[in-house]
Amino acid sequence: MPRKIVAGNWKMNLNLIEGIELVQKINTTDTDVNVSIMVFPPSLFVNGIKEVNSEKVQVGVQNFHSEEKGAFTGEVSISQVKSVGGTIGLIGHSERRELFNESNETLKLKVDAAIQNDFGFIFCCGESLGIREAGTEIEFVKNQLEKSLFHLEADQIKDGIIAYEPIWAIGTGRTASSEQAEDMHREIRKMLVDEYDTETAGSISILYGGSCKPGNAKELFACPNVDGGLIGGAALDATSFCAIIDSFK
Ligand code: PGA
Repeated sequence: MPRKIVAGNWKMNLNLIEGIELVQKINTTDTDVNVSIMVFPPSLFVNGIKEVNSEKVQVGVQNFHSEEKGAFTGEVSISQVKSVGGTIGLIGHSERRELFNESNETLKLKVDAAIQNDFGFIFCCGESLGIREAGTEIEFVKNQLEKSLFHLEADQIKDGIIAYEPIWAIGTGRTASSEQAEDMHREIRKMLVDEYDTETAGSISILYGGSCKPGNAKELFACPNVDGGLIGGAALDATSFCAIIDSFK
């Protein structure tokens, strides 16, 4: 069975004090123990967040560079993230792809860097509204996975996490219906079975992201192939984030 996961992507929101307060509240709220909880603060807050955090919440970064070190102004490497206690990173969020021109090739290098450094990752994929309206979303997502992720061997990908985030649902309040989410998640699981095997496909958590909130999380998480959520806006408030975590109950 894939792990149940609820992850909060803070994007470029909150200051350090607000982030610390949020994590302290998550830590002290009695949430479903069967759900793995992760937060992705701005990378410069990882250190401060780790100091007040317990084992309950895994802390990661929203982005990292594929190189170990060097002249890459403004970037952080995996070893730097690990040195302050970060254990996992997002790869290929649509905002990174769209606003920072991250290509499938760049993301493949990040995937390889994560594997080489024994660093967890959530690989994000998902189509734009235009692609959904053209009815080619499955081919589009398959291509993203094939170009950046499916070169891994089964024993390398088995601990990875995939997040399906339709761009038209991110930050728009327009969530995918549970049918739309489950249809894509089932397709992704099938791609994993075809590319690897049933056991590997069954070990990879596939999260849904895009306007997931306390009001719709229960229905989304009830889908057989939806193993949790990557949450943006609703992860900035402890009450709503914890309510989403408890939506598996
Ligand atoms: P949202 O963002 O929940 O605010 O739509 C999700 C994401 O971008 O990961």
